[in-house]
Amino acid sequence: LLSSKIQEIGKEIVVYDEVESTNSKANELLKQGYPSGTVVVADRQIKGKGRLGRKWISPSGKNLYMSIGIKPTIPPKYATLLTLTSVVACTTALRRYADVPVLIKWPNDMLVDDKKVGGILTEMKIEGEKIKSAVVGIGINVNMTEEDMPEEIKEIASSLKICKGEDFSRSLLAVEIIKEFDKWYQLLEKRQRKTIIDRWMQLSGTIGRQVKIVLSDRELIATAEAIDEEGRLIVKLTDGTYEKICAGDVTLLRA
Ligand code: BTN
Repeated sequence: LLSSKIQEIGKEIVVYDEVESTNSKANELLKQGYPSGTVVVADRQIKGKGRLGRKWISPSGKNLYMSIGIKPTIPPKYATLLTLTSVVACTTALRRYADVPVLIKWPNDMLVDDKKVGGILTEMKIEGEKIKSAVVGIGINVNMTEEDMPEEIKEIASSLKICKGEDFSRSLLAVEIIKEFDKWYQLLEKRQRKTIIDRWMQLSGTIGRQVKIVLSDRELIATAEAIDEEGRLIVKLTDGTYEKICAGDVTLLRA
């Protein structure tokens, strides 16, 4: 299903029934000498990892758990852009494959009607001025129903099945994501940063919205205005001043 047009991503695809986390597995495979672009997919994860130290609920048979191990040549200051590139690729693939109106919440959540259908966890090894390796972990809620969800995520999570009322193939979705990822990642490597940022802005459900931002030392209420060329979120505070956010938890307030 993957055509010869693919440059780098998915030249090797390794499938497991169960892993602790596909991110950790992809990292191990890179260390063992697997090439940049190696994809790991698992039916279930026993220690699925989310952002900010959270866990990612990973039951068997329902969802897509996939990680892509890469060796990017971009400078570390553009590291956030790798995540933005990945979420652009996944959102485009989800829209095409499942025809759902997915929007992006900064930096990398995929939402439908403000509920999360997917997330991305990027882990990187930086050595001096170089990114030595990176693993982009993609979790998409595909066929999970509300009954399958633990109470604590019912209010905030959704799935392709909940949105569309039908089951989807995890492997066909994985193929679509790999193809899109390959295309957008090549643009990043060719330094086409503006193309990526423009597309991210088009797919964003964050820009123009009121947001609450929880930082390590304080909380802000602001309007999301744009992202800059390093992928930081630019917000306007109620007193009219601007701040650039590079990490933190962003909640969309009611439109
Ligand atoms: C988030 O918090 O939104 C990011 C979730 C990322 C989950 C995926 S599932 C596949 C990969 N392996 C992991 O352990 N995490 C990522």
